[in-house]
Amino acid sequence: MNFSQKLRAALSRAQSICVLTGAGVSAESGVPTFRGAEGLWQKFKPEELANFDAFIANPELVWEWYSYRKQVMKNVQPNPAHKALVEIEQLVRDFTLVTQNVDNLHARAGSKNILELHGNIERSYCIECRTFTDDVELSADHKAPRCNTCGGLVRPDVVWFGELLPMDIHQQAVKAAERCDLFLCIGTSAVVYPAAALPLTARERGAYLVEINQENTDLSLRTHETILGKAGEILPQIVHELQSVKERAS
Ligand code: APR
Repeated sequence: MNFSQKLRAALSRAQSICVLTGAGVSAESGVPTFRGAEGLWQKFKPEELANFDAFIANPELVWEWYSYRKQVMKNVQPNPAHKALVEIEQLVRDFTLVTQNVDNLHARAGSKNILELHGNIERSYCIECRTFTDDVELSADHKAPRCNTCGGLVRPDVVWFGELLPMDIHQQAVKAAERCDLFLCIGTSAVVYPAAALPLTARERGAYLVEINQENTDLSLRTHETILGKAGEILPQIVHELQSVKERAS
């Protein structure tokens, strides 16, 4: 793939890279996206499954859905897009991977500096005493899991619609976007805020803003460039480009 002169220049001078990923990065692993033609929100109602009131009203239904999604995510593997981001992290001094994904695939691929803006489906916590637990499921008699400490209702550690992001993680993401010189926005429709504000913050602070997506999004008009294609095909080529510019520089 022939990257633009500007992107190659940005890669050669990159000291600090910040990346925002969305469901599109895990699509090639077999994890459904949310808003695509086959997206989850075509089949399921977020208002019934991904908000706190719905959880209190019917915790079993919500847990059934999260159990299904956990199974899907457990049975897939990181793809070349996840693996390429691990390599980019090793090639630059300052690298931050901000993800909206709760599938844990970046960590399973080996990424280190990950900020999980929307939580992680493999963690859960008690809504009463906030004790965290790993890997709880619906009980055999189809009851929502309860806290071993206080008996309270346990929920998945994911951010639902109408809920605030974990403040410290969001603040770290904003700082990473503010200080980076290259921002890659990969596989997200860029419609969910405040995550979708991060690429704009980076651009405002002088970073070179690149989007990688199979199709144009709401963000495409605000980037320096949008590369259309699959993340699993484009990111390994960016690694290759970064390796060769680093070799030339050394
Ligand atoms: N490579 C690159 N981009 C892809 C690929 C691929 N292989 N497959 C799909 N995409 C793109 C789609 O074109 C779309 O723009 O990924 C994007 C996925 O968008 P969404 O389904 O809206 O997912 P995302 O942006 O991560 O959603 C944000 O919304 O539902 C909530 O909390 C949930 O974290 C999620 C947030």
